[in-house]
Amino acid sequence: MNVLVLGGPNLNLLGTREPEVYGKDTLKDIELFIEKSFEKRGFVIEWFQSNSESKLIEKIHESIDKQDSIIINPAGLTHTSVSLYDALKAFQGTKLEVHLSNTYQREDFRKQKVTSGASDGVIEGFGKMSYFLAFQYLLEKINGE
Ligand code: DQA
Repeated sequence: MNVLVLGGPNLNLLGTREPEVYGKDTLKDIELFIEKSFEKRGFVIEWFQSNSESKLIEKIHESIDKQDSIIINPAGLTHTSVSLYDALKAFQGTKLEVHLSNTYQREDFRKQKVTSGASDGVIEGFGKMSYFLAFQYLLEKINGE
C-alpha cells in the first residue's frame, strides 16, 4: 500500500515548538518511529511537509493516481482551509486526519474543523501515537481485504 503522509504549516518546528503541547519529537523522529514500527508490513511511505497551502494542495493532486491512502495533519489549516478540504475530497483513496494534541482541550478556535470532514476518520490527542494508530488502521484494512 502506498501512503502519503502530509504535514501542514509549522510542523517542521516540532521538537522545539511548544513541546509541552506537541512533545519533544521532531517530525523526523516521528517518521523514523513509524518506519521502524511498520517495516516489512507492505507500506511504501512518502513524507511531505510544507508551510504552504498551495504546495500541500498540489501534492494531493499529484497523489490522485499514485497513492492508495493519505494520512494528513493539516496543522493550522485544519481550522481554515476550504481549499485543502476540496483537494482531499478529490482524492478517492482512504484518508485519515491526525493531530498530535487534543484540540478539544485547547482554544475555542481549534474546535472548528474545516478539513476533518473530508477524511474517513480523525485521530487526535495521542502525540506520535496518533500517527501509529492511523497506520494500524490501514494495516487492518490491508489484512481485512
Ligand atoms: C495540530 C493542532 C492544530 O490546531 C495546530 O494548529 C497545529 C498542530 C496538532 O497536531 O495537534 O499546528 O494539528
